[in-house]
Amino acid sequence: MKKVVLINQKINFLRKKSINVDGDKSLSIRFVLLSSLSRGKCFAKNLLISEDVLSAINIIRKLGIKIKIKKNFCQINGKGLFGLKFKKNLILNSENSGTTARLVCAMLTNSNYWIKVTGDNSLKKRDMSRVIKPLKLFGIKFKNDSSKLPILIKGPKLLKPIKYTETLGSAQCKSAMMIAALKANGTTKLKCIPSRNHTELMFKNVLKIPIKLKKKKKYDLIEVKGMNEFKSFKYNIPGDISSASFFIVLTLLSKKSHLTIKNVNINPSRSGIVNILNMMGAKIRIFDKKYYKGELTANIFIQSNKKLNAINLDPKLNSSAIDEFLLIFLVASVSKGISTFKNLSELNKKESKRLDWGIKILKMMNIKVKRIKNNGLKIWGNPNLKLNKYYVIKNFLKDHRIFMVSSIAALTLGGNWKIHDADCFKTSFPKYLKILRSLGANIK
Ligand code: S3P
Repeated sequence: MKKVVLINQKINFLRKKSINVDGDKSLSIRFVLLSSLSRGKCFAKNLLISEDVLSAINIIRKLGIKIKIKKNFCQINGKGLFGLKFKKNLILNSENSGTTARLVCAMLTNSNYWIKVTGDNSLKKRDMSRVIKPLKLFGIKFKNDSSKLPILIKGPKLLKPIKYTETLGSAQCKSAMMIAALKANGTTKLKCIPSRNHTELMFKNVLKIPIKLKKKKKYDLIEVKGMNEFKSFKYNIPGDISSASFFIVLTLLSKKSHLTIKNVNINPSRSGIVNILNMMGAKIRIFDKKYYKGELTANIFIQSNKKLNAINLDPKLNSSAIDEFLLIFLVASVSKGISTFKNLSELNKKESKRLDWGIKILKMMNIKVKRIKNNGLKIWGNPNLKLNKYYVIKNFLKDHRIFMVSSIAALTLGGNWKIHDADCFKTSFPKYLKILRSLGANIK
């Protein structure tokens, strides 16, 4: 695989009328990890086979779990909540996957040895204190007081239930606590800033774990009772809205095109980008909505539309579009007026410093951007923006979303682009380049 791609031609109009994107990453990782803790054979259809999900699969294999994968069909033989095997000198590598690393920390209980959890250069820069702090209260031990990987973990069989307030709006932190809570001798009570609710929906509708959920004005209250066992399960994984978003924006900013993206998860806690783009004037239509085990899936129809308006985004919507901000910044840069965003500090804690990178890419495109207080950003949109210079995107810690957003900018706005680390999209969306080419993109 070539490590650099060159794009120097806009996409004229989209050759295909409908596509399917790869399976949802958050749901795929949750399927893999929770299957390993269930009792019996679990099956998934349309599992995302990407590097992040493979990191989760490799980890549970190292913990003694048998897995069969055939194309996107996967069988995992769960050994029960207390059935993972911990060998001496075990090293679990989460590679680039923050979700895997943070959720796995909650699973390493009932072990006699210290277990090392590590990751790649990007993951080693990311904050682990958000999970270490609550997991310590459960009774899980961490050697050294480092907030970064690699870390050493050891946990008792039974954990103590906790009361905890989660203030970052991190679904990974919430999910780690919910997994640990299963092994506690009592009820864990969590107060969490709303974030994607896949774990709650899976616990309730798939694993049939009786949890209590209450929506308050600013927080979600979640109660999880410790238990001995939950049964194996089956799961059909829908398409990933975060992957679909690149094609939503590609269509929106291309000429005279329309596209249907089929069978996408549009869970409201994840699909903020659709509402945000519609508020900016896009006319994205959602149809054939269906509920599957609590998750909402649908087909998404998008039409080209360059008559877009700036947005003053209510930060309450940030978490529902947390992985889509680079795309939202790109759309704001060609919209009429000044867009304003606030409370974006979490963006700089992702696979790369995405807030800084968003600013850098927009500045390269000659767009006026300014950081404002409260980790905010102002973008002066230019609806007539046409790019004709040479742009090089490199040293971005192989952040898959930076690679993909740069290619969408190149294909919709023009210019001569050289984008490095061209295999990093395989972290989350292995079919990305194949789909782009099938739509007519000329990528060398
Ligand atoms: C994820 C939660 C989000 C998101 C990440 C996946 C998950 O991170 O950015 O890509 O699957 O729970 P945070 O929990 O840190 O907000």
